[in-house]
Amino acid sequence: MPQENLFDVSATGDTTGTAAEFFPDDLTLPKLRDAAQRCRACDLYENATQAVFGEGAQKSEVMFVGEQPGDQEDVQGRPFVGPAGKLLDKAMEDAGIDRSLAYVTNVVKHFKWQARGKRRIHQKPNSAEMTACRPWLDAELAVVKPRVLVCLGATAAQALLGREFRVTKQRGELVESPLAPNVIATIHPSAILRADEAFRDAEYAGLVEDLRKVAALI
Ligand code: URA
Ligand code: SF4
Repeated sequence: MPQENLFDVSATGDTTGTAAEFFPDDLTLPKLRDAAQRCRACDLYENATQAVFGEGAQKSEVMFVGEQPGDQEDVQGRPFVGPAGKLLDKAMEDAGIDRSLAYVTNVVKHFKWQARGKRRIHQKPNSAEMTACRPWLDAELAVVKPRVLVCLGATAAQALLGREFRVTKQRGELVESPLAPNVIATIHPSAILRADEAFRDAEYAGLVEDLRKVAALI
């Protein structure tokens, strides 16, 4: 690496700040949601339509955290409204959880994507982007104070529970965490949509089984 690049953070891809710089004076959900639209703490806002903040009542007992908005979410400005969201709705219903009692959000608030033909293909946010965005989620946790926190998929689980966390091994188990009195992780509904057709029903049943444990806690 040339000498002049040694302290150039852009060379490492860490061109990020922190979302906390964009916080409103009052940390209420409507003010936070509004402020997130002006966030420039990482580059993801540039190619996204809008920030997709969490949705649900402030008094929600359960909070679901996914990775980041997808194509539909980016357009509609609401979390989990696309294909993965529809599947999550169905799984919640099958598990006996009323989505209207849940707060649903993501680790990262802007859609990261790459064009493939006319489609926008989801790209996993990197750790600098997740770190930059984290204050929004921490604020949501501080305001909602859910009794049950559900991490959907490895990205959310590792961001919230540590890099060592393995969803494949530890899904459906209660995890000790300062984030909420009850914390649990399960697979991401997108993983079911991507799964081979032969395994899809079993994967879905596994998600519902994990969510039944959540239902029992609320
Ligand atoms: N996948 C996610 O992780 N979050 C959404 O909001 C939609 C799809
Ligand atoms: Fe801010 Fe998060 Fe959007 Fe990056 S992804 S600009 S940190 S809201």
